[in-house]
Amino acid sequence: MIDWDQKKNLPIGFMDSGLGGLSVLREAVRIMPAEDFIYYGDSLHAPYGTKEEEVIRELTFNVVKILLKQGIKGLAVACNTATSAAVRRLRIDYPNLPIVGIEPAIKPAVVNHKNGRILVMATPMTIRQKKYQTLLERYREQAEIISVPCGGLMEFVERGRIEEDELNAYFEEHLLPYLSEDTETIVLGCTHYPFLKPYLRKFLEPRVIDLIDGSLGTSMELKRRLSEKNLLREENRKGYVKIQNSTGRQDMIDLSYRLLEMPVD
Ligand code: DGL
Repeated sequence: MIDWDQKKNLPIGFMDSGLGGLSVLREAVRIMPAEDFIYYGDSLHAPYGTKEEEVIRELTFNVVKILLKQGIKGLAVACNTATSAAVRRLRIDYPNLPIVGIEPAIKPAVVNHKNGRILVMATPMTIRQKKYQTLLERYREQAEIISVPCGGLMEFVERGRIEEDELNAYFEEHLLPYLSEDTETIVLGCTHYPFLKPYLRKFLEPRVIDLIDGSLGTSMELKRRLSEKNLLREENRKGYVKIQNSTGRQDMIDLSYRLLEMPVD
């Protein structure tokens, strides 16, 4: 027999290939302040986005097992790459655990679409996946959507200190060729990228382009799924966030807390 009240008091598990998922976690904390969270960043094995699907799935399952061992009542796979490689299998293996994943926020981009182009920045792996191609197919009639593979971009966040010149050179090489007069929205299809928003916005000046991501949508879905199972805690407390990282390095943990505190741009 499951003791539901006991279960309610467990933390919510979050995972990512590194520090990117913190952009989702900060939204989750904002909308569920009474909850406790355990965040596991697999920076030791990052990046996931340039690895093969099988490898990513195995790495993701390893992290999920670490979280489950500590006791969690729900799971957010806060990584687009891990979601496309592993979420279906995770749901089969853990049918009783509420699990949410994240995918590039193409839907809201299309809903608010005027007439321009939509760019999707994501890891090469996410773009190659069938899940993503199916998503593109669904909206192809409604808007011009262009995928921009961004291998090497998440590393700017993982390194902690951003060299603006280097980042601008990256954008010039990898993003600029896709930009056109009528680009109206850029979807940030990797959870690391929201932390680069201020730099990206500056790079894009004087163009005014909407930058959107799925972090709030995913957090709201997580809340809905937990509430459906009556697993949300009473609101009369303030929860904690515990951060773990596979590198075991304290500087990565410190950087994680700093990113978590970064104001949502
Ligand atoms: N943060 C991950 C994502 O959302 C990917 C970064 C990586 O490991 O390549 O796709």
